[in-house]
Amino acid sequence: MPIDAHIKNMSARKQAVLRTSHEYGMPNRVETWLGAGVPMVIGRREGYRIWDIDGHELQDFHINGGTYNLGHRHPECVAQLIQGLETLDVGNHHFPSEVRGKLSKMLAERAPGDLHYTVFTPSGSEANDVAIKTARKATGRRKIVAFDIAYHGHSGFSGAVGENTNAKYFGSAFEQDFLQVPYNDIDALDTMLKSEDVALLMVETLPATFGFPLPDADYYAQVRQLCDRYGTLLLADEVQTGMMRSGKLWAFENYGIVPDMMVTGKGLGAGLYPMGALVMSKKVGAWLEENGWGYVSTFGGSELGCHVALKALEITTAQSTQDNVADLTIYMRQGLDKLRARYPFFCDIRQLGVIFALGFDDKMGGMQMSVALYQEGLWAMFAGYDRRYLQFKLGILANHAFCDEALNKLEAALQNVSSS
Ligand SMILES: Cc1ncc(COP(=O)(O)O)c(C=O)c1O
Repeated sequence: MPIDAHIKNMSARKQAVLRTSHEYGMPNRVETWLGAGVPMVIGRREGYRIWDIDGHELQDFHINGGTYNLGHRHPECVAQLIQGLETLDVGNHHFPSEVRGKLSKMLAERAPGDLHYTVFTPSGSEANDVAIKTARKATGRRKIVAFDIAYHGHSGFSGAVGENTNAKYFGSAFEQDFLQVPYNDIDALDTMLKSEDVALLMVETLPATFGFPLPDADYYAQVRQLCDRYGTLLLADEVQTGMMRSGKLWAFENYGIVPDMMVTGKGLGAGLYPMGALVMSKKVGAWLEENGWGYVSTFGGSELGCHVALKALEITTAQSTQDNVADLTIYMRQGLDKLRARYPFFCDIRQLGVIFALGFDDKMGGMQMSVALYQEGLWAMFAGYDRRYLQFKLGILANHAFCDEALNKLEAALQNVSSS
């Protein structure tokens, strides 16, 4: 599709970016965003705000799924990266390293139960890949089960897990081994696991791409019991829900369970360095004791990344941050409840901590609100697998003034969409 008509009123600089990206990198994405009325090219970014290179200022409620949990370019994390650059680089992944060791220890100390060993990867997807291989090695079984509405990444194995439209598109769904189960349906899970040939149940603690639906209060306790009964390992993918976003460091802690493995990523690197991590019990990670090179990644556990992650975890777990999350959890909810009472179109609020999804009374309502909010100066992404919902991801270090500004924009967008 020619894009000229869409970009003619933009600055020469922005036109050049869009043309180059369209020509050399992402033709369909450029066309899709232009067609949707979101012609964003991000320039300046600071705290929980981003600016389009033509100047449009936006509050960031997308935060890239938690990547900017601490905000863009958090000054202490930027300083940590710069200080790290004075002596460190990526490091050599074949050898032990001071910062990598420190970060593994910190993750083990801050994870509940017997979660102990960490394998670092350059992304969340790759951490899930390693988890799948680990589960197969530990159980001697091949099958991997995940929720049919879950997203666990786009690399080989992780892409085949959960919602698998994209995996099928690329002929990589491996459907005999990668099976789906409905979310929050304990009987369906029992049926799936009782054949005792499933290596791993991978759960996205709250399925983000489906708009963070909450499970029944006792669902995960029952999931844990079924996994124990049938010898299936349990993995919590905390890439979006971890790092204090749920009010606890890891969202599964809200449900009183300890998985055999958990995966984190995104915010772990403070949005400054790509970091993924698989944390697992000693028993499950026993291969690490016999096969030092069972997983090798040049960039996984980069020393610079670990150095930044140490600071990110320190800020994330500080008592003041935990108190702020508790406060925002209530403050933002009160503001949203008031709006919901006044706009029937705004028909649902899902929430755990500062993880919110807003539901609208139209099958494309989340998408409509995403575009309307963009025009008002707030960027929040619709839920890709259920476009009635808008993911509304508040940063853990935000404050009341930031929430008030967002609530005003939400009201303006609701007025626009309701009257159109
Ligand atoms: C829940 C979840 N798991 C895994 C991933 C994959 O992480 P990455 O994009 O770092 O590979 C994502 C990314 O959005 C995610 O949301």
